[in-house]
Amino acid sequence: MIRIDSLSKSFGTFEAVKNVSLEVPSGSFLVLVGPSGCGKSTMLRMLAGLESPTDGTIQFDGKTVSDGAGPWTIEPAKRNAGLVFQSYALWPHMTVAGNVEWPLKVAGQGKAERTARVNEVLHLLGIDNLGRRFPNEISGGQQQRVAIARMIAPKPGILLFDEPLSNLDAKLRVEMRSELLRVHRVTQATSVYVTHDQVEAMTMATHVAVMNGGSVEQFGSPQELVSEPSSAFVATFVGTPPANLVDAGLIPAAHPLGRKGHSGRFMFRPEDILVSRHPDPASIEMDFAEISPLAGRSMITGTRNGLRLTAVADGSFRFTIGDKVHFLLPPAAAACFDSKGKRA
Ligand SMILES: Nc1ncnc2c1ncn2[C@@H]1O[C@H](COP(=O)(O)OP(=O)(O)O)[C@@H](O)[C@H]1O
Ligand SMILES: [Mg+2]
Repeated sequence: MIRIDSLSKSFGTFEAVKNVSLEVPSGSFLVLVGPSGCGKSTMLRMLAGLESPTDGTIQFDGKTVSDGAGPWTIEPAKRNAGLVFQSYALWPHMTVAGNVEWPLKVAGQGKAERTARVNEVLHLLGIDNLGRRFPNEISGGQQQRVAIARMIAPKPGILLFDEPLSNLDAKLRVEMRSELLRVHRVTQATSVYVTHDQVEAMTMATHVAVMNGGSVEQFGSPQELVSEPSSAFVATFVGTPPANLVDAGLIPAAHPLGRKGHSGRFMFRPEDILVSRHPDPASIEMDFAEISPLAGRSMITGTRNGLRLTAVADGSFRFTIGDKVHFLLPPAAAACFDSKGKRA
């Protein structure tokens, strides 16, 4: 349905997107996730047709819509794609219903058809009663619902979202995640969703592309990223909490992995690490940094000399700043990465 081949985008000599290839079937919810500046918005803008690639192609449903080498690009309005940004950009002089109706007017639909569709999408987004209000008379969360209603009104086959929830407070953000998934389920539209928030990515996506420095580090299901991270970057970027990476040289000699000759970094899952107040020759001594409850368990973090370890443990712990915490790593690592961060 969406197929991206060797896609690159340069601004002058700066390569914002580097040789990205991926493909998702119709009805997928693809999330592009990565730190700020890694090229997510540039990718989405190329999908929308607002930016043309320097190299590579984009196909929707087997049809080439962008081609870095070729002469043509299908213009944004003819891509059958709807776009929602972080800032909602509703027309302030139009009512909510007017905003949602606008793209249908542009598409040349008749009044009765438009009214029926406006009512239908306002109902889908749970804002039936707001049709006559103006954007400045509703809350931020409601404005974002209106923006989404306006996007889906003309029934685009592809929905493009650029950090649509980052302006909302935490509670509303969580609520809107499930709202968006419901909209996705009802419309069955293939969606591409950009976020820097890995939790959002992991909870919403059918497919995730983890981006870093313009490249896709890994493309897979949320489950695959957690169970089989292909790089140290992915291992420490995804998961709640993310996995721990420990330099081979920092593992105590008394630990089964502490033998000489190991190099690179080992990955350990937080739930596989034991925490104690008491020293043990096989444990790593750390300074207590923080503790927080996590679904009935405790998430405990210690730091020392640039190393940061997080364990998830049963039971109640009473640590305070200044305490030493001893982290006992499991006898085998969940993964190993070489000095360049590649899976070994
Ligand atoms: N029009 C532009 N001109 C020059 N550099 C740009 C332009 N758009 C984006 N960039 C640069 O490309 C990189 C990726 O930007 P962007 O795709 O917006 O990242 P993200 O959305 O992941 O934060 C950034 O370093 C940004 O400064
Ligand atoms: Mg961006």
